Amino acid sequence: MAESQTDKVQTEEEGGSLKKGKQKQKKDAWRPQGKRDPFELLDSLPESEQQQFQRALHLFSLGTTLPKTLQQAKKRIYRFWETQPVPKLGETVTTHGPIAEGAASIREEPYSLPQGFSWDTLDLSSPPVLKELCSLLNENFTEDDDNTIRFEFSEEYLQWALQPPGWQVLWHCGVRVDSNKKLVGFIAAVPGDVRFYETEKRVVQVKFLCVHKRLRLKRMTPVLIRELTRRVNQQGLGQAVYTAGILLPTPLSSCRQWNRPLNPRKLMEVNYPGLKQNMTLQRMFSLYFSLPKMTKTQGLRQMTRDDAPGIRSLLQESLGQFHLRPLLSQQDVEHWLLPRENVIDTYVVEGDSGALTGVVSFYGVSSTVLNHPIHTALRAAHLLYVASTATDQVDLVEDALVLAKAVSKGFDLFCALDAMNNTGFLEKLKFNVSHTEVHYYLYNWMCPRMTPDKVGLIIPN
Ligand SMILES: CC(C)(COP(=O)(O)OP(=O)(O)OC[C@H]1O[C@@H](n2cnc3c(N)ncnc32)[C@H](O)[C@@H]1OP(=O)(O)O)[C@@H](O)C(=O)NCCC(=O)NCCS
Repeated sequence: MAESQTDKVQTEEEGGSLKKGKQKQKKDAWRPQGKRDPFELLDSLPESEQQQFQRALHLFSLGTTLPKTLQQAKKRIYRFWETQPVPKLGETVTTHGPIAEGAASIREEPYSLPQGFSWDTLDLSSPPVLKELCSLLNENFTEDDDNTIRFEFSEEYLQWALQPPGWQVLWHCGVRVDSNKKLVGFIAAVPGDVRFYETEKRVVQVKFLCVHKRLRLKRMTPVLIRELTRRVNQQGLGQAVYTAGILLPTPLSSCRQWNRPLNPRKLMEVNYPGLKQNMTLQRMFSLYFSLPKMTKTQGLRQMTRDDAPGIRSLLQESLGQFHLRPLLSQQDVEHWLLPRENVIDTYVVEGDSGALTGVVSFYGVSSTVLNHPIHTALRAAHLLYVASTATDQVDLVEDALVLAKAVSKGFDLFCALDAMNNTGFLEKLKFNVSHTEVHYYLYNWMCPRMTPDKVGLIIPN
Protein backbone atom coordinates (compact mmCIF):
# COMPACT_ATOMS: atom_id res chain seq x y z
CA MET A 1 0.00 0.00 0.00
CA ALA A 2 2.29 2.74 -1.19
CA GLU A 3 1.58 6.37 -0.40
CA SER A 4 1.05 8.84 -3.21
CA GLN A 5 2.59 12.33 -3.35
CA THR A 6 -0.78 13.99 -2.75
CA ASP A 7 -1.23 11.73 0.21
CA LYS A 8 1.97 13.10 1.76
CA VAL A 9 0.74 16.67 1.52
CA GLN A 10 -2.59 15.76 3.03
CA THR A 11 -0.82 13.77 5.74
CA GLU A 12 1.11 16.85 6.82
CA GLU A 13 -2.11 18.78 7.08
CA GLU A 14 -3.92 16.06 8.94
CA GLY A 15 -0.89 15.06 10.99
CA GLY A 16 -0.35 18.66 12.07
CA SER A 17 3.14 19.64 10.90
CA LEU A 18 1.95 22.86 9.21
CA LYS A 19 0.93 25.74 11.42
CA LYS A 20 -2.46 26.12 9.78
CA GLY A 21 -2.84 22.39 9.95
CA LYS A 22 -2.11 22.45 13.67
CA GLN A 23 -4.85 24.94 14.39
CA LYS A 24 -7.25 22.90 12.33
CA GLN A 25 -6.13 19.73 14.03
CA LYS A 26 -6.83 21.28 17.43
CA LYS A 27 -10.38 21.91 16.33
CA ASP A 28 -10.81 18.52 14.67
CA ALA A 29 -8.72 16.34 16.96
CA TRP A 30 -10.51 13.14 17.94
CA ARG A 31 -10.56 13.42 21.67
CA PRO A 32 -13.24 14.06 24.25
CA GLN A 33 -14.14 17.75 24.03
CA GLY A 34 -15.37 18.80 27.44
CA LYS A 35 -18.84 18.83 28.85
CA ARG A 36 -20.73 19.78 25.70
CA ASP A 37 -19.54 16.80 23.69
CA PRO A 38 -22.76 15.07 22.55
CA PHE A 39 -20.97 11.69 22.57
CA GLU A 40 -20.20 12.13 26.25
CA LEU A 41 -23.78 13.04 26.90
CA LEU A 42 -24.97 10.01 24.93
CA ASP A 43 -22.55 7.74 26.69
CA SER A 44 -23.69 8.82 30.13
CA LEU A 45 -27.23 7.61 29.40
CA PRO A 46 -28.44 4.09 30.14
CA GLU A 47 -28.10 1.66 27.21
CA SER A 48 -31.83 1.62 26.39
CA GLU A 49 -31.96 5.43 26.14
CA GLN A 50 -28.85 5.46 23.98
CA GLN A 51 -30.63 3.15 21.57
CA GLN A 52 -33.70 5.37 21.45
CA PHE A 53 -31.49 8.30 20.48
CA GLN A 54 -29.73 6.25 17.82
CA ARG A 55 -33.07 5.16 16.39
CA ALA A 56 -34.37 8.73 16.33
CA LEU A 57 -31.22 10.01 14.63
CA HIS A 58 -31.51 7.30 12.06
CA LEU A 59 -35.20 7.97 11.51
CA PHE A 60 -34.64 11.65 10.85
CA SER A 61 -31.45 10.97 8.88
CA LEU A 62 -29.45 13.14 11.21
CA GLY A 63 -26.94 10.36 11.72
CA THR A 64 -23.79 10.85 9.70
CA THR A 65 -24.26 7.70 7.72
CA LEU A 66 -21.78 7.27 4.89
CA PRO A 67 -23.03 6.71 1.36
CA LYS A 68 -24.46 3.32 0.58
CA THR A 69 -25.18 3.92 -3.09
CA LEU A 70 -23.06 5.22 -5.96
CA GLN A 71 -25.47 8.12 -6.46
CA GLN A 72 -25.04 9.27 -2.85
CA ALA A 73 -21.28 8.70 -3.07
CA LYS A 74 -20.90 10.90 -6.13
CA LYS A 75 -22.25 13.86 -4.13
CA ARG A 76 -19.76 13.38 -1.30
CA ILE A 77 -16.26 14.77 -0.97
CA TYR A 78 -14.00 12.02 0.37
CA ARG A 79 -11.44 14.20 2.11
CA PHE A 80 -9.25 11.27 3.03
CA TRP A 81 -9.91 8.69 0.35
CA GLU A 82 -9.30 11.21 -2.43
CA THR A 83 -5.66 11.38 -1.26
CA GLN A 84 -5.19 7.63 -1.40
CA PRO A 85 -4.00 5.38 -4.25
CA VAL A 86 -7.43 4.05 -5.14
CA PRO A 87 -9.41 4.52 -8.38
CA LYS A 88 -11.60 7.63 -8.51
CA LEU A 89 -15.37 7.20 -8.32
CA GLY A 90 -16.91 7.05 -11.76
CA GLU A 91 -13.58 6.27 -13.43
CA THR A 92 -13.73 3.42 -15.95
CA VAL A 93 -10.62 1.33 -15.46
CA THR A 94 -9.33 -0.79 -18.31
CA THR A 95 -5.68 -1.22 -17.27
CA HIS A 96 -4.05 -3.40 -14.65
CA GLY A 97 -1.30 -2.34 -12.26
CA PRO A 98 -0.27 -0.44 -9.13
CA ILE A 99 -1.47 3.15 -8.71
CA ALA A 100 1.56 4.38 -6.76
CA GLU A 101 5.05 2.93 -6.61
CA GLY A 102 6.24 4.22 -3.29
CA ALA A 103 8.77 1.90 -1.69
CA ALA A 104 11.31 4.75 -1.45
CA SER A 105 9.06 7.02 0.58
CA ILE A 106 8.05 4.80 3.50
CA ARG A 107 7.96 6.92 6.61
CA GLU A 108 10.20 5.73 9.45
CA GLU A 109 8.25 7.02 12.43
CA PRO A 110 4.62 6.23 13.31
CA TYR A 111 1.95 8.78 12.40
CA SER A 112 1.39 11.20 15.22
CA LEU A 113 -1.63 10.94 17.42
CA PRO A 114 -3.22 13.83 19.30
CA GLN A 115 -1.89 14.41 22.78
CA GLY A 116 -3.22 11.90 25.27
CA PHE A 117 -3.33 8.92 22.88
CA SER A 118 -0.66 6.35 21.96
CA TRP A 119 -0.21 3.48 19.55
CA ASP A 120 -0.16 0.02 21.05
CA THR A 121 0.63 -3.11 19.07
CA LEU A 122 -1.70 -5.74 20.48
CA ASP A 123 -0.18 -9.06 21.45
CA LEU A 124 -3.18 -11.35 20.97
CA SER A 125 -1.37 -14.29 22.56
CA SER A 126 -1.86 -12.45 25.86
CA PRO A 127 -5.33 -13.43 27.20
CA PRO A 128 -6.03 -10.04 28.87
CA VAL A 129 -5.18 -8.18 25.63
CA LEU A 130 -7.38 -10.50 23.57
CA LYS A 131 -10.17 -9.90 26.05
CA GLU A 132 -9.76 -6.14 25.76
CA LEU A 133 -10.00 -6.35 21.98
CA CYS A 134 -13.19 -8.42 22.32
CA SER A 135 -14.67 -5.75 24.57
CA LEU A 136 -13.77 -2.90 22.21
CA LEU A 137 -15.30 -4.67 19.22
CA ASN A 138 -18.33 -6.05 21.01
CA GLU A 139 -19.24 -2.73 22.57
CA ASN A 140 -18.71 -0.67 19.46
CA PHE A 141 -19.51 -2.78 16.39
CA THR A 142 -23.22 -2.60 15.63
CA GLU A 143 -24.83 -4.72 13.01
CA ASP A 144 -28.09 -2.96 12.28
CA ASP A 145 -29.03 0.66 11.76
CA ASP A 146 -31.14 1.07 14.87
CA ASN A 147 -28.51 -0.38 17.19
CA THR A 148 -30.45 -3.31 18.69
CA ILE A 149 -28.23 -6.13 17.45
CA ARG A 150 -24.53 -6.11 18.19
CA PHE A 151 -21.78 -8.40 17.00
CA GLU A 152 -20.35 -10.57 19.75
CA PHE A 153 -16.95 -11.78 18.63
CA SER A 154 -15.47 -14.53 20.79
CA GLU A 155 -11.77 -14.75 21.62
CA GLU A 156 -11.55 -17.96 19.57
CA TYR A 157 -13.16 -16.22 16.61
CA LEU A 158 -10.68 -13.34 16.76
CA GLN A 159 -7.74 -15.74 16.94
CA TRP A 160 -9.05 -17.49 13.84
CA ALA A 161 -9.70 -14.27 11.94
CA LEU A 162 -6.52 -12.46 12.94
CA GLN A 163 -3.83 -15.14 13.20
CA PRO A 164 -3.68 -17.05 9.89
CA PRO A 165 -0.31 -18.35 8.62
CA GLY A 166 2.18 -15.48 8.30
CA TRP A 167 0.29 -13.10 10.63
CA GLN A 168 2.34 -10.31 12.16
CA VAL A 169 1.89 -8.80 15.55
CA LEU A 170 2.79 -5.35 14.15
CA TRP A 171 -0.33 -5.43 12.03
CA HIS A 172 -2.64 -5.67 15.05
CA CYS A 173 -2.64 -1.99 15.56
CA GLY A 174 -4.38 -0.45 18.59
CA VAL A 175 -4.78 3.04 20.06
CA ARG A 176 -4.98 3.63 23.80
CA VAL A 177 -5.79 6.58 26.02
CA ASP A 178 -2.58 7.46 27.90
CA SER A 179 -4.24 8.28 31.21
CA ASN A 180 -6.14 5.03 31.77
CA LYS A 181 -4.72 2.75 29.02
CA LYS A 182 -8.20 2.13 27.65
CA LEU A 183 -8.23 0.63 24.16
CA VAL A 184 -10.25 2.98 21.92
CA GLY A 185 -9.22 2.16 18.37
CA PHE A 186 -8.12 -0.84 16.32
CA ILE A 187 -7.30 -1.91 12.80
CA ALA A 188 -5.73 -5.15 11.59
CA ALA A 189 -4.20 -6.66 8.49
CA VAL A 190 -3.55 -10.33 7.78
CA PRO A 191 -1.44 -11.59 4.88
CA GLY A 192 -2.60 -13.81 2.06
CA ASP A 193 -1.81 -14.68 -1.55
CA VAL A 194 -4.50 -13.45 -3.89
CA ARG A 195 -5.02 -13.54 -7.63
CA PHE A 196 -6.81 -10.64 -9.32
CA TYR A 197 -7.27 -11.30 -13.05
CA GLU A 198 -3.85 -12.53 -14.22
CA THR A 199 -1.83 -11.06 -11.33
CA GLU A 200 -0.80 -13.14 -8.32
CA LYS A 201 0.37 -11.17 -5.30
CA ARG A 202 0.99 -11.37 -1.61
CA VAL A 203 -1.36 -8.74 -0.17
CA VAL A 204 -2.97 -7.99 3.16
CA GLN A 205 -6.63 -8.26 3.99
CA VAL A 206 -7.68 -5.36 6.23
CA LYS A 207 -10.12 -6.18 9.02
CA PHE A 208 -11.81 -5.04 12.21
CA LEU A 209 -11.48 -1.32 11.75
CA CYS A 210 -13.12 0.02 14.88
CA VAL A 211 -13.24 3.34 16.72
CA HIS A 212 -14.82 3.70 20.13
CA LYS A 213 -18.25 5.27 19.74
CA ARG A 214 -17.25 8.28 21.84
CA LEU A 215 -14.46 9.11 19.42
CA ARG A 216 -16.43 8.88 16.21
CA LEU A 217 -16.41 11.55 13.49
CA LYS A 218 -13.11 12.92 14.73
CA ARG A 219 -10.99 11.66 11.83
CA MET A 220 -9.40 8.81 13.74
CA THR A 221 -10.00 6.38 10.87
CA PRO A 222 -7.63 8.08 8.39
CA VAL A 223 -4.84 7.98 11.01
CA LEU A 224 -5.45 4.28 11.67
CA ILE A 225 -5.43 3.47 7.96
CA ARG A 226 -2.27 5.51 7.31
CA GLU A 227 -0.41 3.90 10.18
CA LEU A 228 -1.41 0.38 9.18
CA THR A 229 -0.41 1.16 5.58
CA ARG A 230 3.01 2.34 6.79
CA ARG A 231 3.53 -0.85 8.79
CA VAL A 232 2.46 -3.04 5.86
CA ASN A 233 4.67 -1.10 3.41
CA GLN A 234 7.60 -1.55 5.80
CA GLN A 235 7.26 -5.30 5.37
CA GLY A 236 7.45 -4.93 1.59
CA LEU A 237 3.77 -5.31 0.71
CA GLY A 238 2.07 -2.66 -1.39
CA GLN A 239 -1.51 -3.85 -1.93
CA ALA A 240 -4.52 -4.60 0.25
CA VAL A 241 -7.94 -6.08 -0.24
CA TYR A 242 -10.82 -5.14 2.03
CA THR A 243 -14.58 -5.08 2.18
CA ALA A 244 -17.04 -2.57 3.61
CA GLY A 245 -20.77 -2.08 3.74
CA ILE A 246 -20.38 1.56 2.75
CA LEU A 247 -19.48 3.02 -0.59
CA LEU A 248 -15.93 4.32 -0.74
CA PRO A 249 -13.78 5.11 -3.79
CA THR A 250 -14.03 2.71 -5.59
CA PRO A 251 -15.54 -0.78 -5.41
CA LEU A 252 -13.92 -3.50 -7.46
CA SER A 253 -17.18 -5.37 -7.08
CA SER A 254 -20.34 -5.12 -5.03
CA CYS A 255 -21.97 -8.27 -3.71
CA ARG A 256 -25.32 -8.62 -2.03
CA GLN A 257 -25.88 -10.70 1.10
CA TRP A 258 -28.72 -13.23 1.02
CA ASN A 259 -30.18 -14.67 4.21
CA ARG A 260 -31.88 -17.99 4.78
CA PRO A 261 -33.86 -18.07 8.03
CA LEU A 262 -33.35 -21.27 10.04
CA ASN A 263 -35.25 -20.12 13.10
CA PRO A 264 -37.98 -17.90 11.61
CA ARG A 265 -39.91 -17.33 14.83
CA LYS A 266 -36.90 -15.94 16.65
CA LEU A 267 -35.83 -13.77 13.73
CA MET A 268 -39.29 -12.25 13.54
CA GLU A 269 -39.41 -11.71 17.28
CA VAL A 270 -36.11 -9.83 17.31
CA ASN A 271 -37.13 -7.91 14.18
CA TYR A 272 -34.05 -9.08 12.33
CA PRO A 273 -33.18 -6.58 9.58
CA GLY A 274 -33.66 -7.78 6.03
CA LEU A 275 -36.52 -10.21 6.62
CA LYS A 276 -39.27 -9.99 4.04
CA GLN A 277 -41.58 -7.14 5.03
CA ASN A 278 -45.21 -7.78 5.99
CA MET A 279 -44.80 -11.50 6.38
CA THR A 280 -46.92 -13.34 8.92
CA LEU A 281 -45.36 -15.91 11.20
CA GLN A 282 -47.49 -18.58 9.57
CA ARG A 283 -46.18 -17.67 6.14
CA MET A 284 -42.62 -17.57 7.49
CA PHE A 285 -43.07 -21.07 8.86
CA SER A 286 -44.55 -22.47 5.69
CA LEU A 287 -41.68 -20.98 3.71
CA TYR A 288 -38.76 -21.81 5.92
CA PHE A 289 -39.66 -24.87 7.91
CA SER A 290 -39.35 -27.15 4.95
CA LEU A 291 -35.78 -28.28 5.47
CA PRO A 292 -35.15 -32.04 5.54
CA LYS A 293 -34.41 -33.53 8.96
CA MET A 294 -31.30 -35.33 7.71
CA THR A 295 -28.54 -34.58 5.23
CA LYS A 296 -28.82 -36.42 1.92
CA THR A 297 -25.30 -36.47 0.43
CA GLN A 298 -23.68 -39.90 0.63
CA GLY A 299 -20.20 -39.78 2.20
CA LEU A 300 -20.68 -36.38 3.87
CA ARG A 301 -18.57 -36.05 7.02
CA GLN A 302 -16.71 -33.48 9.07
CA MET A 303 -13.30 -32.40 7.77
CA THR A 304 -10.13 -33.66 9.46
CA ARG A 305 -6.57 -32.35 9.08
CA ASP A 306 -5.77 -35.16 6.61
CA ASP A 307 -8.36 -33.75 4.22
CA ALA A 308 -6.44 -30.49 3.73
CA PRO A 309 -4.57 -31.52 0.51
CA GLY A 310 -7.76 -32.90 -1.10
CA ILE A 311 -9.73 -29.78 -0.19
CA ARG A 312 -6.95 -27.57 -1.53
CA SER A 313 -7.14 -29.28 -4.94
CA LEU A 314 -10.94 -29.06 -4.99
CA LEU A 315 -10.88 -25.35 -4.16
CA GLN A 316 -8.05 -24.56 -6.56
CA GLU A 317 -10.00 -26.20 -9.36
CA SER A 318 -13.31 -24.62 -8.50
CA LEU A 319 -12.05 -21.09 -7.67
CA GLY A 320 -9.94 -21.00 -10.85
CA GLN A 321 -12.88 -19.58 -12.83
CA PHE A 322 -13.11 -16.35 -10.78
CA HIS A 323 -11.29 -13.04 -11.37
CA LEU A 324 -10.62 -12.42 -7.67
CA ARG A 325 -9.66 -15.43 -5.62
CA PRO A 326 -7.35 -16.63 -2.87
CA LEU A 327 -4.31 -18.80 -3.57
CA LEU A 328 -4.46 -21.16 -0.64
CA SER A 329 -1.48 -23.11 0.69
CA GLN A 330 -2.08 -26.31 2.61
CA GLN A 331 -1.47 -24.41 5.86
CA ASP A 332 -4.03 -21.79 4.78
CA VAL A 333 -6.61 -24.54 4.18
CA GLU A 334 -5.87 -26.04 7.59
CA HIS A 335 -6.17 -22.67 9.27
CA TRP A 336 -9.28 -21.35 7.53
CA LEU A 337 -11.26 -24.58 7.19
CA LEU A 338 -10.34 -27.05 9.93
CA PRO A 339 -13.36 -27.15 12.27
CA ARG A 340 -13.11 -25.10 15.47
CA GLU A 341 -16.04 -25.15 17.83
CA ASN A 342 -18.34 -22.15 17.41
CA VAL A 343 -15.99 -20.63 14.83
CA ILE A 344 -15.71 -22.65 11.62
CA ASP A 345 -17.42 -25.81 10.34
CA THR A 346 -16.30 -27.72 7.29
CA TYR A 347 -17.79 -30.88 5.78
CA VAL A 348 -16.31 -32.96 2.99
CA VAL A 349 -17.83 -35.55 0.67
CA GLU A 350 -15.78 -38.72 0.43
CA GLY A 351 -16.40 -40.70 -2.74
CA ASP A 352 -16.41 -44.53 -2.93
CA SER A 353 -12.71 -44.56 -3.84
CA GLY A 354 -11.85 -42.51 -0.76
CA ALA A 355 -11.05 -39.38 -2.81
CA LEU A 356 -12.78 -36.14 -1.84
CA THR A 357 -15.46 -34.98 -4.26
CA GLY A 358 -16.92 -32.06 -2.35
CA VAL A 359 -16.45 -29.52 0.42
CA VAL A 360 -18.71 -26.99 2.10
CA SER A 361 -17.66 -24.66 4.90
CA PHE A 362 -19.31 -21.95 6.95
CA TYR A 363 -18.16 -19.74 9.80
CA GLY A 364 -20.28 -18.62 12.72
CA VAL A 365 -20.88 -15.05 13.83
CA SER A 366 -22.69 -14.42 17.10
CA SER A 367 -24.61 -11.31 18.03
CA THR A 368 -26.12 -9.95 21.19
CA VAL A 369 -29.76 -8.88 21.05
CA LEU A 370 -30.18 -5.81 23.23
CA ASN A 371 -33.14 -5.16 25.49
CA HIS A 372 -35.36 -7.96 24.26
CA PRO A 373 -37.67 -9.60 26.81
CA ILE A 374 -36.91 -13.15 25.63
CA HIS A 375 -33.90 -13.33 23.34
CA THR A 376 -30.35 -12.35 24.20
CA ALA A 377 -28.30 -13.85 21.39
CA LEU A 378 -28.40 -14.68 17.72
CA ARG A 379 -26.15 -16.97 15.68
CA ALA A 380 -25.56 -16.58 11.96
CA ALA A 381 -23.68 -19.05 9.78
CA HIS A 382 -21.86 -17.47 6.83
CA LEU A 383 -21.00 -19.55 3.80
CA LEU A 384 -17.24 -19.56 3.19
CA TYR A 385 -16.61 -21.94 0.28
CA VAL A 386 -18.50 -24.68 -1.49
CA ALA A 387 -17.03 -26.86 -4.25
CA SER A 388 -17.86 -30.25 -5.64
CA THR A 389 -17.11 -32.45 -8.60
CA ALA A 390 -19.82 -35.09 -8.12
CA THR A 391 -22.58 -33.78 -5.85
CA ASP A 392 -25.07 -31.16 -6.98
CA GLN A 393 -24.10 -27.87 -5.30
CA VAL A 394 -27.71 -27.22 -4.34
CA ASP A 395 -27.84 -30.50 -2.39
CA LEU A 396 -24.53 -29.80 -0.69
CA VAL A 397 -25.60 -26.35 0.48
CA GLU A 398 -28.96 -27.72 1.58
CA ASP A 399 -27.07 -30.24 3.70
CA ALA A 400 -25.07 -27.34 5.16
CA LEU A 401 -28.38 -25.66 6.10
CA VAL A 402 -29.59 -28.85 7.78
CA LEU A 403 -26.33 -29.16 9.73
CA ALA A 404 -26.31 -25.48 10.72
CA LYS A 405 -29.88 -25.68 11.97
CA ALA A 406 -29.29 -28.86 14.01
CA VAL A 407 -29.56 -28.35 17.75
CA SER A 408 -25.86 -29.08 18.21
CA LYS A 409 -25.00 -26.02 16.11
CA GLY A 410 -28.11 -23.94 16.74
CA PHE A 411 -27.71 -21.30 14.03
CA ASP A 412 -30.68 -18.99 13.55
CA LEU A 413 -29.89 -18.01 10.01
CA PHE A 414 -27.56 -18.82 7.16
CA CYS A 415 -26.02 -16.05 5.05
CA ALA A 416 -24.33 -16.20 1.67
CA LEU A 417 -23.15 -13.60 -0.81
CA ASP A 418 -24.24 -13.66 -4.44
CA ALA A 419 -20.54 -14.16 -5.25
CA MET A 420 -19.04 -17.17 -7.09
CA ASN A 421 -21.71 -19.51 -8.48
CA ASN A 422 -23.95 -18.97 -5.46
CA THR A 423 -26.89 -17.62 -7.46
CA GLY A 424 -27.32 -21.22 -8.61
CA PHE A 425 -28.69 -22.20 -5.19
CA LEU A 426 -29.83 -18.99 -3.43
CA GLU A 427 -33.41 -18.85 -4.66
CA LYS A 428 -33.83 -22.62 -4.86
CA LEU A 429 -32.96 -22.92 -1.18
CA LYS A 430 -35.17 -19.97 -0.14
CA PHE A 431 -32.53 -17.46 0.71
CA ASN A 432 -33.92 -13.96 0.45
CA VAL A 433 -32.01 -10.94 -0.63
CA SER A 434 -31.09 -8.56 2.22
CA HIS A 435 -30.31 -4.85 2.18
CA THR A 436 -26.68 -5.61 3.13
CA GLU A 437 -24.14 -4.97 0.41
CA VAL A 438 -20.54 -6.05 0.68
CA HIS A 439 -18.30 -3.85 -1.45
CA TYR A 440 -14.87 -5.22 -2.34
CA TYR A 441 -11.93 -2.83 -2.64
CA LEU A 442 -8.29 -3.05 -3.72
CA TYR A 443 -5.78 -0.58 -2.30
CA ASN A 444 -3.10 0.61 -4.70
CA TRP A 445 -4.20 -1.56 -7.59
CA MET A 446 -6.04 -0.63 -10.74
CA CYS A 447 -8.06 -3.21 -12.64
CA PRO A 448 -11.48 -3.39 -14.30
CA ARG A 449 -14.57 -3.73 -12.15
CA MET A 450 -16.06 -7.23 -11.94
CA THR A 451 -19.55 -8.63 -11.42
CA PRO A 452 -20.26 -10.54 -8.18
CA ASP A 453 -20.20 -13.89 -9.97
CA LYS A 454 -16.50 -13.29 -10.69
CA VAL A 455 -15.64 -12.76 -7.01
CA GLY A 456 -14.17 -15.92 -5.51
CA LEU A 457 -12.76 -14.50 -2.28
CA ILE A 458 -14.62 -14.33 1.02
CA ILE A 459 -13.14 -12.18 3.80
CA PRO A 460 -14.59 -13.07 7.19
CA ASN A 461 -14.68 -9.95 9.31
C1 LIG B 1 -15.97 2.58 10.71
C2 LIG B 1 -15.56 3.59 11.80
C3 LIG B 1 -14.19 3.24 12.30
C4 LIG B 1 -15.56 5.00 11.16
O1 LIG B 1 -15.30 5.94 12.15
P1 LIG B 1 -15.84 7.43 12.08
O2 LIG B 1 -15.57 8.04 13.39
O3 LIG B 1 -17.24 7.41 11.56
O4 LIG B 1 -14.99 8.14 10.94
P2 LIG B 1 -13.73 9.11 11.12
O5 LIG B 1 -14.17 10.49 11.44
O6 LIG B 1 -12.75 8.51 12.04
O7 LIG B 1 -13.10 9.06 9.64
C5 LIG B 1 -13.84 9.43 8.55
C6 LIG B 1 -13.17 8.89 7.31
O8 LIG B 1 -13.08 7.46 7.41
C7 LIG B 1 -13.70 6.87 6.26
N1 LIG B 1 -14.32 5.62 6.67
C8 LIG B 1 -15.40 5.44 7.45
N2 LIG B 1 -15.69 4.13 7.56
C9 LIG B 1 -14.78 3.48 6.83
C10 LIG B 1 -14.58 2.11 6.53
N3 LIG B 1 -15.38 1.15 7.01
N4 LIG B 1 -13.54 1.77 5.76
C11 LIG B 1 -12.73 2.73 5.26
N5 LIG B 1 -12.88 4.05 5.48
C12 LIG B 1 -13.90 4.41 6.25
C13 LIG B 1 -14.71 7.89 5.81
O9 LIG B 1 -15.06 7.72 4.47
C14 LIG B 1 -13.98 9.20 6.07
O10 LIG B 1 -13.05 9.47 5.06
P3 LIG B 1 -13.44 10.51 3.87
O11 LIG B 1 -13.31 11.88 4.45
O12 LIG B 1 -12.45 10.24 2.79
O13 LIG B 1 -14.84 10.20 3.46
C15 LIG B 1 -16.57 3.60 12.96
O14 LIG B 1 -17.83 4.02 12.48
C16 LIG B 1 -16.73 2.25 13.63
O15 LIG B 1 -15.92 1.87 14.45
N6 LIG B 1 -17.83 1.53 13.30
C17 LIG B 1 -18.11 0.22 13.87
C18 LIG B 1 -17.24 -0.84 13.25
C19 LIG B 1 -17.35 -0.89 11.75
O16 LIG B 1 -18.42 -0.78 11.18
N7 LIG B 1 -16.19 -1.05 11.09
C20 LIG B 1 -16.09 -1.09 9.65
C21 LIG B 1 -16.09 -2.47 9.18
S1 LIG B 1 -15.89 -2.44 7.42
